[in-house]
Amino acid sequence: MTDKSVSQGVPYLSLLEEFQALQQKWFEHIEAIGAGGAFILGPNVRAFEQEAADYVGSKYAVAVANGTDALVLSLRAMDIGPGDEVITSPFTFFATAEAISIVGATPVFADINEVSFNIDPVSVAGLINDKTKAILPVHIFGNPADMTTLRSLAETHGLRLIEDAAQAFGAKWGDETVGSMGDTGCFSFYPTKVLGCYGDGGLITTSDEAVRDRLHKLRNHGATAPFTHDELGYNSRLDEVQAALLRLKLVKLEQDIAARVRVADWYDQRLANLDLVIPVRPQNGRHAFNLYTIRHPRRDALRAHLNEHKVGNSQCYPLGLHLQSIYAELGYKPGDLPVVDRLCGETLSLPIFPAMKEDQVDHVCELVAAI
Ligand SMILES: Cc1ncc(COP(=O)(O)O)c(C=O)c1O
Repeated sequence: MTDKSVSQGVPYLSLLEEFQALQQKWFEHIEAIGAGGAFILGPNVRAFEQEAADYVGSKYAVAVANGTDALVLSLRAMDIGPGDEVITSPFTFFATAEAISIVGATPVFADINEVSFNIDPVSVAGLINDKTKAILPVHIFGNPADMTTLRSLAETHGLRLIEDAAQAFGAKWGDETVGSMGDTGCFSFYPTKVLGCYGDGGLITTSDEAVRDRLHKLRNHGATAPFTHDELGYNSRLDEVQAALLRLKLVKLEQDIAARVRVADWYDQRLANLDLVIPVRPQNGRHAFNLYTIRHPRRDALRAHLNEHKVGNSQCYPLGLHLQSIYAELGYKPGDLPVVDRLCGETLSLPIFPAMKEDQVDHVCELVAAI
């Protein structure tokens, strides 16, 4: 029998419980910000940068306006631009490749591993040439990429390593937290992320002082001093209202990730014996479970069934970025990256959020089992 609480369906994501728990403290901070009069790059941003750097285990953190800017500014800070190639995953949100194109460089797409959904280091190795300047792995869905192999490839070939950790705040590869292993780690605080704010926000972590200094300049119109500019930069600054919220959320992040992992455990137990593939986790380390993405041989039928029962879901990702029309000039054809092409027809992300209840997971799994 269907429980009354799930008879209306299950949302893909609900932030309401979290907002209600945080609102009083956040509103107090907003009042103090209003009274203090510092609204952008003020004391909350500075404190959050230090707290986030300490959490990630990098020396510095630079807050920016969103995760896309975190990637763009990282590339610019390392002088990657026209004529350069950056190897990345096509199985990600468009912003990853978009950032490479925005700085004038060329994205070169590697194939992915069929169970981790992350970039395949063997495919990456085969793409390195004289024009390659960086490898840009994405810790997709919160699952860390194979940083041991990627780091050694980057070191061997003298390449920069830029982590797209937009979906993976708090994920770990061994004992190391994502964002601390590359030249930079790029985070998004879009509301749906593991660490999300109630607006847009982003962050770059780095332990390279020169990169940090360049990022400070780039996020503020390329200014070296007030009204003094020696290059084109961006208006990419985090505001105090979001920074105050992010500080409150960072304190309870371990709790939130533990809650996400608990939901993933419930799913794993219920889905383990069905004809589908459940997410793999790193042998050592931690999947942050921003998304819980399965592979299903009849994905479209499953999707229709979940939609019919008002269960939120998302097709992450329906088309590899190498086949997007904007990249037609790069000349990729279906079949060039066979694993990506196949997975785009099989993957489906199910509801997951820290406040999700066990009976909601039961309900989703009963519907999955019916297909
Ligand atoms: C993997 C990945 N990279 C980059 C971004 C861009 O972040 P933002 O939306 O904050 O610009 C996102 C999310 O939106 C993402 O999922």
